[in-house]
Amino acid sequence: MRIDVLNGVNLDLLGKRDPGTYGDSSLQDLETQVYAWARELDLQVRCRQTNHEGEYVEFIHHALGAADGLILNPGAWTHYSWAIRDALEPFANPFVEVHLSNVDEREEWRRFSVLEGLGGMRVVGKGFDGYREALALLGGQRA
Ligand code: DQA
Repeated sequence: MRIDVLNGVNLDLLGKRDPGTYGDSSLQDLETQVYAWARELDLQVRCRQTNHEGEYVEFIHHALGAADGLILNPGAWTHYSWAIRDALEPFANPFVEVHLSNVDEREEWRRFSVLEGLGGMRVVGKGFDGYREALALLGGQRA
């Protein structure tokens, strides 16, 4: 089962931005963990990150018909990028929206997600472990 893990805007600043909220480990640490968990769960994973919305949209386009599942943390785009919702809409396989922090208990504007209603799963507020949970959720849906 092939899963793309797509981290969006500012996730490359992990370890440097607000460690109280996001922890003090880096994106590279996160990706190393994700690859190790994927091996344990016998999943084939590719991690990608970008700060460019159009590139993120293209990551999703590349996953159409190619990935069996997606893990998406679009960062702040989550709260306003209709382009990302439109790109994901034709994705027929399961996906999980992940947020390191508990976006439901922070500022009001973080509570809304453009991915709402697309039928995906959601893991919030569990830090890096949220990605493990997302991998397990997708692995559990294996045909
Ligand atoms: C985030 C939450 C977003 O509100 C924020 O803009 C981020 C990170 C998270 O993982 O908790 O950049 O997606």
